[in-house]
Amino acid sequence: VLTLADVAADPAGYATELTPVGGTVFVLRPLESGDRAGLRVFFDGLSTRSRDLGGVWDDTSAQAAEHCDAIGRYDKLRLVLVDAGDRIVGLLEVSFDVVAADVERFRSYGIDLGEEDARFGLCVADAVQGSGVADLASTATFELARRFGRARLILWGGVREDNVRARRFYRRLGFTELGTCREPGGELVRDGLRRL
Ligand SMILES: CC(C)(COP(=O)(O)OP(=O)(O)OC[C@H]1O[C@@H](n2cnc3c(N)ncnc32)[C@H](O)[C@@H]1OP(=O)(O)O)[C@@H](O)C(=O)NCCC(=O)NCCS
Repeated sequence: VLTLADVAADPAGYATELTPVGGTVFVLRPLESGDRAGLRVFFDGLSTRSRDLGGVWDDTSAQAAEHCDAIGRYDKLRLVLVDAGDRIVGLLEVSFDVVAADVERFRSYGIDLGEEDARFGLCVADAVQGSGVADLASTATFELARRFGRARLILWGGVREDNVRARRFYRRLGFTELGTCREPGGELVRDGLRRL
């Protein structure tokens, strides 16, 4: 079973080339400590809507620094999608820690979350949305999560009810939509689960 320390020790060993139909080559690879500036540029380049839906902080510099400082520690596996010009155009995140609030909410759907579960979320640059690369990057991330010994993924923080695009995307990728709940900010979000 893979660990975060394994990935942090050899990030290049976990890089994958992705070639969407008719497109150029992208690479999906673990986030590295030297990605701080590139990650910030990626966050700053997102449209207001993608930033909002993708959970980007107001202080993108602090967020990029936090993500890079957290590599190989805590519970998160972060992968970046990089284009042919070596620019970060996507961030895919897996958390191997399912929080108490998730456990409680999923219990109300008749699902017991535990050691075999992880959370998944992603955000790709507006310019590459609709290209199919997000599908390929997600599938590669699922494969890696499986190697960590996980059997199911839930949507990290759920998907906003009005985020029709992401809901279709997740459904196409095999997520089952479950119930809804309200975020602290009042937004209605829908839970989702997928077997790995
Ligand atoms: C969610 C995300 C990763 C999806 O990747 P994508 O490349 O944009 O996905 P697609 O273009 O394949 O779109 C998914 C589906 O929505 C449809 N769609 C696209 N734009 C749409 C729109 N404005 N309204 C309704 N449907 C839309 C697509 O046609 C596709 O439908 P299909 O299943 O019939 O093929 C990407 O849009 C993204 O990063 N968004 C910003 C952050 C975000 O929302 N993250 C998810 C948070 S839970």
